[in-house]
Amino acid sequence: MLDKVKELIGDVKAFNASTKEEVEQFRIQYLGSKGVLKDLFNDFKDVENHLKKDIGQALNQLRGAATDKVNELKNSFENTAESKSIYGDLTRPSEPINLGARHPISIVRNQIVEVFDRIGFTVSEGPEIEDDWHNFTALNLPEYHPARDMQDTFFIEKDPDLLLRTHTSSVQTRYMENNTPPIRTLSPGRVFRNEDISARAHCIFHQIEGLYIDTDVSFADLKQTLLYFTKEMFGKSKIRLRPSYFPFTEPSAEVDIYWGLETETDYKITKGTGWLEIMGCGMVDPNVLKNANIDPTKYSGYAFGMGIERIAMLLYQIPDIRMFYENDVRFLEQFKSVL
Ligand code: DAH
Repeated sequence: MLDKVKELIGDVKAFNASTKEEVEQFRIQYLGSKGVLKDLFNDFKDVENHLKKDIGQALNQLRGAATDKVNELKNSFENTAESKSIYGDLTRPSEPINLGARHPISIVRNQIVEVFDRIGFTVSEGPEIEDDWHNFTALNLPEYHPARDMQDTFFIEKDPDLLLRTHTSSVQTRYMENNTPPIRTLSPGRVFRNEDISARAHCIFHQIEGLYIDTDVSFADLKQTLLYFTKEMFGKSKIRLRPSYFPFTEPSAEVDIYWGLETETDYKITKGTGWLEIMGCGMVDPNVLKNANIDPTKYSGYAFGMGIERIAMLLYQIPDIRMFYENDVRFLEQFKSVL
């Protein structure tokens, strides 16, 4: 029996398998409940006493060798299977995911939309390539009107007339054409002007237009709305309305907020006055309502328009408007923490 067991130890040590199934068969053959070792241990009971020590040791050796072999082969299969797997090592710690940041223009746009959303304004959009009617004529700026020069235009075609919109007020016209009062809408978007690029001006920038039309809308409603906006957006509650001129509103005003002088270290933000202009506004001119088939004897409304870059520059102290369009990740990554 001893010779037989020693031979089996040799067999076990020499065993090799090419598949996992072969390893399992081997395990059952030697270590299974009806396996070789079970039989041998059964026979061991009848072994004469003086042989028990040697044969017992040999049997334990055989069991150890078989167990080691099974484990060794199993491990080797698992490792190679894993390295071949398309998933790689699933227990490996993951690569850090490099999340991007929202663009500051989007952040500020969303903030403004959110503030007005709370008082019932919905978002509307219009095309960037516009016609003369929606960008100018319907807004009380007929052909040869001198105020057209206020906004240098990129013209695309003469007939049919196509241009890049110079302001988001064009969406006002479209919205009024397609909706009936009460109207409460906010139109954010890109606008284009044929201007020299500098630290403060760009030929492409963003605006948000607001429009409110209903019965009995007054200048007091406009002022309250502006006050609410400046409080929510900047935490400032001192504003002033300076009389101004826009062809599409009458009366018109420019809105200044009192920014204070504490931040005026270099006199750049408010030029030492403490006041800062943030938007244009006014009561919608009756002609503009008429052009969109809204009866000005029944309805009145207010409108306002502001530049998003200007507000973003203010909030984040960005010194140069060109930084918004350079896509320098060192600039953009600074907005990672803002949603
Ligand atoms: N469209 C004007 C601009 O681009 C801004 C503006 C001023 C819009 C007054 C308005 C408004 O709706 O009432 O400069």
